[in-house]
Formats: sequence, structure tokens, C-alpha cells
Amino acid sequence: MKNETYKKLIVANWKMNPSSSKEAEELSGTVQREVRGLKNVEIVLCPPFPYLSVVGALAKGAQSCHWEQKGAYTGAVSPAMLKDMGCEYVIIGHSERKQYFGETDEIINKKVKAALKAGLKVVLCIGEDTRDSFDSKGHWTHELDPKLKEQIIGAFEGVKKSNIQNIVVAYEPVWAIGTGNPATPDDVLSAKIFIRKILSNLYDRKEADKVRVLYGGSTNKKNSAVFIKEGQADGLLVGGASLDSDEFVEMVKSIYENS
Ligand code: PGA
Repeated sequence: MKNETYKKLIVANWKMNPSSSKEAEELSGTVQREVRGLKNVEIVLCPPFPYLSVVGALAKGAQSCHWEQKGAYTGAVSPAMLKDMGCEYVIIGHSERKQYFGETDEIINKKVKAALKAGLKVVLCIGEDTRDSFDSKGHWTHELDPKLKEQIIGAFEGVKKSNIQNIVVAYEPVWAIGTGNPATPDDVLSAKIFIRKILSNLYDRKEADKVRVLYGGSTNKKNSAVFIKEGQADGLLVGGASLDSDEFVEMVKSIYENS
């Protein structure tokens, strides 16, 4: 696989944390101070909506958005509003959104198109629920589980070729999220090849090769570098470990040193 010239992308998904704006400010402030000067990595902080303004110099991302740009949708936040707040990225399709908020592939597709229309870049999460599709030699394979393929085809439906490089695909197997049981670098590499193959079929090879593929699920300062070096991930989507500034900064540094 041709090696990409992109900076490695590290997306911090704070989920519904921390509990106060003071803590959010401290977390963001420490990360910004400590990673200053690491030019080879792109860091995006995705706090809950009320804390978006604490992200200063780093790129800002949101954890979700609605599929309309405005209107009578109580409690919702639109892609246009996020863009106006200075967001560059939005995470769409996280498995927790599917589990707790009933998001379907169809809703995800509407959100992806709305976010791109508003000028945001999308971090699209996909991943199998279980790790149980083995080939005749006993190797686990993405080819035998219809989930990934369905999720990719569903999310990219109607997205123009000229826009696909504004989507970053985060491979996040559900069984690896928050479990302390990450995928292996081999799993990540084979997922990246598989994702690019499906996108090549939908679009073409040249465009598919521009789509960055991140890994997410139980990453920490000890295992980050291996997903980049051996798994050839273009970056990471980090949950729990992004709430500890020391841990997160160590992760960023280890990726910086290994990319
Ligand atoms: P985790 O979460 O790093 O805590 O496993 C990843 C995610 O949900 O994006």
C-alpha cells in the first residue's frame, strides 16, 4: 500500500465528559501546551457541545450533528451551527449513537451529506459488533461479515467523488471500544485494505486511496504507535485515554515519533 503523505490525525472523543467547564478548560489547555511544536500530527479535540469554546488553538470537532441545517428539531445542533462555531470536523455514526440514540445507516447517511454540505470534514465510524467471522483457515476476516461493507455503502450513498476525501473513516470494532481489548495491528491493516477496496469499487482507486482510515478502540500510550507502524492506520480515534492529559499527550508524542 502506498504510504500517504498526510499528517497523522488524532481525534479525541471526550464523549459526555468532563463534568465541568473548568475541567474541560484545564484538559484542553494542558494538551495544547504540551503538543505545541509537534508539526507532524493533526490533533482534533471533540468535547461536548457546551465546551466547544474551550478548544483554542487546536482543531475543533463535534461528536454528532443533525441532518438539517435549521428548524424545529428541539435539542438538536446543526452542521451549519458547528461550522459557525469554528468546528472543522464532526464524528458521525459512533456505535454509542447507534446503541443509545437509535441511529441507523440511513440517518448516518443523511448526517454525512449534511455535514459535508456545511463544509465540515466527517469522521465516519464503522465497525463489526462481534469478532466471529472466521475463514476456513480460522482467520478472522472482514470479508465474511457483511457489517462493514453495508455501513460503508450506506454512509457514502449519494456522496460525490469530489467529496470523499473530506470523509475520514474510523475503524472502530464495537467489541474493542472501552473494553481494554483492542484489535490487533493486523486487524487494523486488513480493515484498511478492505475499506479502501470497497471505496475503489464505489468510486475509483485513486480517490479511494485519499480516504484516511483511523483506528479506534481501547488505544492508550503503550499501544498507539503499533497501530500506526504495523497497522498502517492514518491516525487514531481516542476515547477514554483522551480524558487524561498526560496519557493523551504521551500518545500524541509516540505517534509523532513513529510517523
Ligand atoms: P475508547 O473509545 O478509546 O475508550 O475505547 C473509543 C471511541 O469510542 O471512539
